Amino acid sequence: MPDDILSSEESAFIQMHHATVYRGTQPVLHDLSLVIDPGCSTVILGPNGSGKSTFMKLLSRELYPVVGSDRYIRLMGREHWNVWDLRSQIGIISADMQQAYSCHTTGLEIILSGFFSSLDVYEHQPISLEHRTKSSEMMRTLGITHLQDRPFGEMSTGEQRRALLGRTLVHEPRFLVLDEPTTGLDVRACFQYLQIIRNFIRHGGTVILVTHHVHEIPPEIERVMLLKQGRITEDGRKVDVLNDRSLSALFETPVHLLHDHGWFQIVPALPG
Ligand SMILES: Nc1ncnc2c1ncn2[C@@H]1O[C@H](COP(=O)(O)OP(=O)(O)OP(=O)(O)O)[C@@H](O)[C@H]1O
Ligand SMILES: [Mg+2]
Repeated sequence: MPDDILSSEESAFIQMHHATVYRGTQPVLHDLSLVIDPGCSTVILGPNGSGKSTFMKLLSRELYPVVGSDRYIRLMGREHWNVWDLRSQIGIISADMQQAYSCHTTGLEIILSGFFSSLDVYEHQPISLEHRTKSSEMMRTLGITHLQDRPFGEMSTGEQRRALLGRTLVHEPRFLVLDEPTTGLDVRACFQYLQIIRNFIRHGGTVILVTHHVHEIPPEIERVMLLKQGRITEDGRKVDVLNDRSLSALFETPVHLLHDHGWFQIVPALPG
């Protein structure tokens, strides 16, 4: 990998060393070693079942790697985290979260819950005027003020997704970890969502995006890792890693990569 996007381990956001993870009786991530620095927004691209969501659950501490000498995962230099402290630094959004929310929680309550890293707001939580002001500002920024009183269960998929993004961004995390963020969104909602992610990166935030959609990769993300059957097969600059050969091998089907002003799309390769 080129030196200027190589990482210095002291300041690393993520440092994995020989991380192996089992789900059930099978290993699904095999001996992963990688370093991602703050400021180095990265895409982990892989087909269905390659281990992307498993990777993400390692970051959220829902899963742990096999224990062994010289095997570890450090986040911001630490192996052990209080999960609440970790959530205040890293905003994580996955489709699982969308299932976890109560249908009755309103748009405003969802945003407010971000201050407490909880799934709802509760009477004992000290909601201040500042919390309310920031939540209203966030709803304005995301264009979802009309969802303020709407219960989560009555929002469309795209509205739910934006409400959850607002919840995550309201407490100003340094890092955002996203699992296939635009799945289920229409073109407008997808582009709006990606624009918010781009702004987050431009303002100094770091994004880890796990996906199998190349069209979700914003121009601001420069580093790409290819994940296949639980192993990182390539890691480097987006322009070096993404090409017809690498993606056809990754998805085990002949594809042609299209590239236009920083964005990518893949189409079937012409026969022959
Ligand atoms: N709870 C589980 N028990 C056993 N195996 C599991 C479990 N969850 C996931 N797996 C297996 O682990 C492998 C990786 O799954 P994972 O969800 O990480 O893939 P993914 O890359 O996120 O796929 P997708 O693109 O479909 O979301 C798959 O083979 C899957 O069947
Ligand atoms: Mg997944």
